[in-house]
Amino acid sequence: MRSSRLTFFLITLLTCSAAFASDTPHMAWLKAKCALCHGEDGSGNTPEGRSRGVPDLRSEAIQKLTDDELAKLITAGHSRMPSFKATLTREQVMLLVTYIRSLAKK
Ligand code: HEC
Repeated sequence: MRSSRLTFFLITLLTCSAAFASDTPHMAWLKAKCALCHGEDGSGNTPEGRSRGVPDLRSEAIQKLTDDELAKLITAGHSRMPSFKATLTREQVMLLVTYIRSLAKK
C-alpha cells in the first residue's frame, strides 16, 4: 500500500515538472524569475533592483529596442543582469519580450 502511494506521488511530481517544461509556460512562473530585480510592473522598484540599478523596462530607452535585441539581452545577460541562456527556451524569452511590450502600453 505504501509503495503504491509513493508511485502515485512520483507520477504526480513528474506530470507537474513536465507541465513546467512544456511550450506553454505559466506566465507567473516566468515573471517571477524577473520580478526579483525588475518588479511585477517592470519599474525596477525593488530592493534588489535599486541596489543593482536596473532600468525601467517601460521606458522609451528599453521599448525602442527591437524584439530581437531584447531577446538577445535576456538570453545573454548584460552587466549586472544575469544570463538566462541555460534556464529559458527561445519561446519563453519571446513570451517575456511580449510581456515587456505590454508593460509600456499601460
Ligand atoms: C538578479 C537581478 C536581475 C534579474 C533576476 C533579471 N534582471 Fe534584467 N536587468 C538587471 C540589471 C542589473 C539590468 C541592467 C543591466 C545594465 O547595466 O545594462 C537589467 C536589464 C534588463 C533589460 C534591459 C537591457 C539591458 O541590459 O540594459 C531587460 C530587457 C531585462 N533586464 C529583462 C529581464 C528579464 C525578462 C528577466 C527575467 C527572465 C530579467 N531581466 C531578470 C537585473 C536582473
